[in-house]
Amino acid sequence: MDMTTTLVDHTFRKDVRRCFEMQTYAIPARWLYDRRGSELFEEITELPEYYPTRTETALLKANGAAFAASTGSGRAVIEFGSGSSAKTPHLLKAIDPAAYVPIDISGAFLEHSASLLQDEFPKLPIYPVEADFMKRVALPDAVADMPKLGFFPGSTIGNMIARTSVDLLRFMRETLGEGAQLLIGIDRIKDPQILVDAYDDSAGVTAQFSLNLLHRINRELDGDIPVELFRHRAEWNDLYARIEIFLEAQQDLRFSIDGQGYELGKGQKLHIENSHKYGLRDARLMLRAGGWTPLHEWSDERDYFTLMLVEAHPYKHAP
Ligand code: AVI
Repeated sequence: MDMTTTLVDHTFRKDVRRCFEMQTYAIPARWLYDRRGSELFEEITELPEYYPTRTETALLKANGAAFAASTGSGRAVIEFGSGSSAKTPHLLKAIDPAAYVPIDISGAFLEHSASLLQDEFPKLPIYPVEADFMKRVALPDAVADMPKLGFFPGSTIGNMIARTSVDLLRFMRETLGEGAQLLIGIDRIKDPQILVDAYDDSAGVTAQFSLNLLHRINRELDGDIPVELFRHRAEWNDLYARIEIFLEAQQDLRFSIDGQGYELGKGQKLHIENSHKYGLRDARLMLRAGGWTPLHEWSDERDYFTLMLVEAHPYKHAP
């Protein structure tokens, strides 16, 4: 067992204990993404109800010439949480970059997707960085003097509460430096039924994705949670403009984790994920709070999703 695994075990255990012992009934969404969770998320992106991936990919394909005109060639593209880098080729083809730096916390995943991308772009220098992008990241020396374009697709920013998303945007600004640009995917506010369906699909894949968290607790923390007695729920919270995902106990339950017994009453909900949606003005305000000035926006014709290009301008004194 390596250091990373030990550290992950420790933090996962701490977060799960807090949920049941301190009765916060909330578990951070990051724990959804073990190997099985990541596979299920890939399946989600192909579901008919899950519009974000399809819509964003179409925007990336359709607007290559406009990206090239706005960013110019010769930038180092820095992708935050690159994962499978599935959307990256569309951007790289469009803007003729000088280098590509995928940043991801999973080293194995990173090497694999970087080598696939290298086959597709044999002349492009690729420098994978294994790191947690929620903090400032030290970039490779080779790209130090290149102008930078950050790439943060998928509306992953939506999985963070406002304070965390602004902190992240500030870290990205520090990582990329003054004068950098950032291309970020933003999922828009829309008819709540469309949103609920996107997070509670008819094939039940999103439910499996959520319930995998309980399986993961059983697998990794020696638990015996009766997973079949929980139900996945996706609810629109209009005040917070977000989809909230819960796992709800269908009857009074007793189970143990790590030898410690717990009880849950029927109807008790565990809050496991938020997915915030934005109006354009909300998104611009969030980006400005994070130190980024809006430059251009590209939306699909239904206004379901927007790609925003923003720039790290020097701070000006406000009046
Ligand atoms: C990764 N993230 C942007 C997804 C979302 O849409 O919030 C995670 C997800 N959870 C359930 N379905 C998709």
